[in-house]
Amino acid sequence: MDYPTHLLDEVKKNSKYFQLEGFLSGNGSPQAKAMLVGEAPGQTELVTKLPFTGQAGKELDNELEQAGLSREDLYITSVVRSRPYKIKKRINKDGTVSESRPNRTPTKAEVLAHAPLIDYEIQHIKPKIIAPMGNIALKRLLGNKYTISAFHGQVLNDSIFQLSDDRSTYVKSTDRYIIFPLYHPAAVLYNRSLADVISKDWRALFELINKLSDSHSFLVACRNDLIIVPTLNTNRMMLKTSNHQPMKLPKISPSII
Ligand code: URA
Repeated sequence: MDYPTHLLDEVKKNSKYFQLEGFLSGNGSPQAKAMLVGEAPGQTELVTKLPFTGQAGKELDNELEQAGLSREDLYITSVVRSRPYKIKKRINKDGTVSESRPNRTPTKAEVLAHAPLIDYEIQHIKPKIIAPMGNIALKRLLGNKYTISAFHGQVLNDSIFQLSDDRSTYVKSTDRYIIFPLYHPAAVLYNRSLADVISKDWRALFELINKLSDSHSFLVACRNDLIIVPTLNTNRMMLKTSNHQPMKLPKISPSII
């Protein structure tokens, strides 16, 4: 993705006092049906120039393969486009001091400084599905009350937070989006017991992409819930809500996306 120069300049100016280095563009098909949104590139990604090519990337590729997805089906980006690092000093046995600069989680101020880029990507790629991976991306898009542990694997239909015109805060978009929160691919490295849940969510994303690509289905937005309706036999069908519970077609008048 090529970003407009004025946005790159703005992000650079607003990031100059942060411990951030390098720059990595979002990557993938401009026609992608789903956009995966991570946190920020790490050391490996700055070398390879491709998102998710380090340890988290191996987990991601593994999940994609098992779910039947490929990077070519997707656009992959993150809420911060430079590598956040911390400075760690260590005194060696011989008394000399060595310094390392490991990756760290981006701060809210860094996410705000990089907000014009993810907003631009969403507006230009216009993905059918946005899948924030992990809490940093989820909270950036839907707000602080959302957590991955509560919302992973649910199909949400909502407006998202975008940078305000005066650049000081976020405001809700007028457009609504289909949001499918996922655990960050690195989560399983810290908590192996999440492995099954994470794989199930990736399979659900695969199914959602297929259903949305199927011309025999359409989506009905009902409050903050989404229902995928096959065009045949809809009036007699039991439908599945985002939390996978069967329900009858609601009587309220739905808006069709
Ligand atoms: N984590 C992210 O969020 N993005 C990357 O590209 C790598 C790790």
